[in-house]
Amino acid sequence: MSLTTFHPRPAERVRNHAAGTPQKVTTVSIQEKKRLGSPIVAVTAYDYASARVIDEAGLDIVLVGDSLAMVMQGMENTLAITMDEMLLYTRGVRRGLRRALLVADMPFGSYQADTREGVANAIRFLKEAGAEAVKIEGAHIELVERLTEAEVPVMGHIGLTPQAVHRMGGFKVQGKTMQAVEELREDAIALAAAGCFAIVLEGIPREVARLITDELAIPTIGIGAGPDCDGQILVLHDLLTMTFSPAAKFVRRYADVGAVMRSALTEYKHDVEARTFPSEDESYHLPQEAKLLLDEQSDDNPTDEPHDDTHEIGPRPVTRPVSLRH
Ligand code: KIV
Repeated sequence: MSLTTFHPRPAERVRNHAAGTPQKVTTVSIQEKKRLGSPIVAVTAYDYASARVIDEAGLDIVLVGDSLAMVMQGMENTLAITMDEMLLYTRGVRRGLRRALLVADMPFGSYQADTREGVANAIRFLKEAGAEAVKIEGAHIELVERLTEAEVPVMGHIGLTPQAVHRMGGFKVQGKTMQAVEELREDAIALAAAGCFAIVLEGIPREVARLITDELAIPTIGIGAGPDCDGQILVLHDLLTMTFSPAAKFVRRYADVGAVMRSALTEYKHDVEARTFPSEDESYHLPQEAKLLLDEQSDDNPTDEPHDDTHEIGPRPVTRPVSLRH
């Protein structure tokens, strides 16, 4: 059991980290950022705690990506993740966000077979998990139109679309021939016309991403698509080094959280094995009266001072490294 809690954030703190930007990021304010030439910052998240940290850091968009199949569940690709699993993860992230726009990825099989089923599944993300938009891989133009009519904002996703891993023959850079470039351009234009509020461009040459970005009125969010997109997105576990294979060329490692965790856990293991954890201070104690009675019954009378410890569960001093209660 962990008694770690996240206390409600004072409005003041939320205002501060969002200084100079709209209080709540919306699909409308994301589009406004393109008009203002202000870069859009997006990242994936799959759980409540990470979502809170991301929100407090002031990022614009949090995507509950189906990449969670790989980075959270250790699968080889994204294909097996289900609607119910995506909804579960999205609900956790929802509780961690106040300001950032929450986008949920439609998983493989939830929209490819049938447009009506796609609309029904997308609505579940808004209704049951609190998402504010969904992301769909590929140029499913009719579905985007239906969703737009149904008031479900859609983020498109073209280029390297991981749900098409078997068609692509692996996770490979797309858009490398003139024909492929033209198809990407046409798909982007059609998705924008169908109502997408933004489009992810993944794994395509920088020059192609720039062409599409210049051509569209809606923002492009790049991942492995160079610096000329209107925004960037990375998988959280890639940028924090919580992955176990070499990073793709486009990933920048901003921290080695895996190494920090390994070191902390090794230290904890050492302390438990050396019986230096928990310490006297980290232990609960009987109230003085009860301790005296217990001592009377006991053959060996302990010499340490009785503590007046009430057993009330309350917040620890803020100087403590963790927010356990005692
Ligand atoms: O699933 C995912 O995380 C994504 C992003 C990488 C865009 O689709």
